[in-house]
Amino acid sequence: MTYARAMTKPVDIAPATGRLGVLTPGMGAVASTFIAGVLATRAGHAVPVGSLSQLAHIRLGKREENRNPLIREFVPLADLGDLVFGGWDPISPNALEAARTAGVLEERDLGPISAELEGIVAMDAVFDQRWVKRLEGTRVKTTTDKWAQAEALIADIENFRIANDCDRLVMVWCGSTEAYQEASAVHMTIESFEAGLRANDDNIAPSQIYAYAAIMSGVPFANGAPNLSVDLPCMRELAAREGVPIAGKDFKTGQTWLKTLLAPGLKARMLGLRGWYSTNILGNRDGEVLDDPDNFKTKEVSKLGVIDSVLQPEVYPDLYGNVDHVVRINYYPPRGDNKEGWDNIDIFGWMGYPMQIKVNFLCRDSILAAPIVLDLALFMDLANRAGQSGVQEWLSFYFKAPQAATPVPAEHDLFIQQTKLKNTLREWMGEDAVTHSEAG
Ligand SMILES: NC(=O)c1ccc[n+]([C@@H]2O[C@H](COP(=O)([O-])OP(=O)(O)OC[C@H]3O[C@@H](n4cnc5c(N)ncnc54)[C@H](O)[C@@H]3O)[C@@H](O)[C@H]2O)c1
Repeated sequence: MTYARAMTKPVDIAPATGRLGVLTPGMGAVASTFIAGVLATRAGHAVPVGSLSQLAHIRLGKREENRNPLIREFVPLADLGDLVFGGWDPISPNALEAARTAGVLEERDLGPISAELEGIVAMDAVFDQRWVKRLEGTRVKTTTDKWAQAEALIADIENFRIANDCDRLVMVWCGSTEAYQEASAVHMTIESFEAGLRANDDNIAPSQIYAYAAIMSGVPFANGAPNLSVDLPCMRELAAREGVPIAGKDFKTGQTWLKTLLAPGLKARMLGLRGWYSTNILGNRDGEVLDDPDNFKTKEVSKLGVIDSVLQPEVYPDLYGNVDHVVRINYYPPRGDNKEGWDNIDIFGWMGYPMQIKVNFLCRDSILAAPIVLDLALFMDLANRAGQSGVQEWLSFYFKAPQAATPVPAEHDLFIQQTKLKNTLREWMGEDAVTHSEAG
């Protein structure tokens, strides 16, 4: 298929030839559901529901031109048939065990792909229980020296690349949420971080060692948890120096995704907000990890930023200057991965009269997260082949706390994020941005 009327100069994108290795630090509920879904899709047993890269179309040119190809036919993405999977985990031995423990997918779906899943064996993790108190890791690297851990991960990446005959690799963090941390002196420059690795600095968390190893190996890194990982000055500097795309953080799946649908709607109508109370019950391993206050704090910070950023209280003090925003997560084992979220939203209208909105979302966490892992893997690989490096802000669509490429904070509004994603693809392919104005 050809697409005429190129208005801007397209970006040079290397073709997606050969195999793409997708590495996930963390082979738990999300990673195993993602891998199983790709295998099932490949075998013709499933449709990749929730994935823009597989199902979404993209309008090109003016409406009357009627050009609306699938995204995957418009941009040169890796084919699902060319993906190979690997990862690290301190508990799960392989993707099949991980999927069975997570209990997200039923045996009737796992059965036909069980041999393939079992063959995806987790490598020993760089793990330190101080960062995830609720987990007992047994499949961990023996060295506790951080520099040696980084070297071991770099060797794992290279060995995986050779063993699986990969043309390219991407890494998507699907590991646990680590204890809350703020950036410190060791995170400021490449030099200070490398000195910290050599000195076994306590402020360096395991996820940062994976990020360092990925970038040093030329492997794009997307961060699905709220951990700092690549949201650090040293990692931005390293990504720029090595020419590697990075993105984060924290997959935008359930409650926060709904928030970024609803809050822009209130603002579009200039309706006021007085309070937003969100609570969840969740019974999977992620819920267990988040039951520790230090780990929950990391998640809470990631979830709380959304409303302020969308509603701009500094611009609209009368409407959004006095909002109580509370987020709770309660670990409740009977629910497993099937999280239930409640939102009570206190809004006000004309002459200040109050109203309420109640949302009760019975979701499946990993079912929502899996297509995000797929899209991030494919789009990060595309960015890499397009010669992009540093923070990929156009992928903000997928994150609760999107990292910004510039000092201006990233956009949280889902619809603006979607426009940004699609316009970036249009521009890279030499098509006009779609502005939805009368003229276009
Ligand atoms: N499912 C969602 O909707 C969703 C949304 C946003 C973010 N997340 C985040 O994605 C991550 C994965 O979620 P999940 O439901 O799969 O959790 P999970 O607990 O099932 O899986 C996480 C896995 O990471 C492993 N792990 C912990 N520390 C590790 C390390 N240092 N190296 C390698 N592996 C390590 C754990 O053993 C576990 O198997 C979590 O951080 C979660 O907060 C999930």
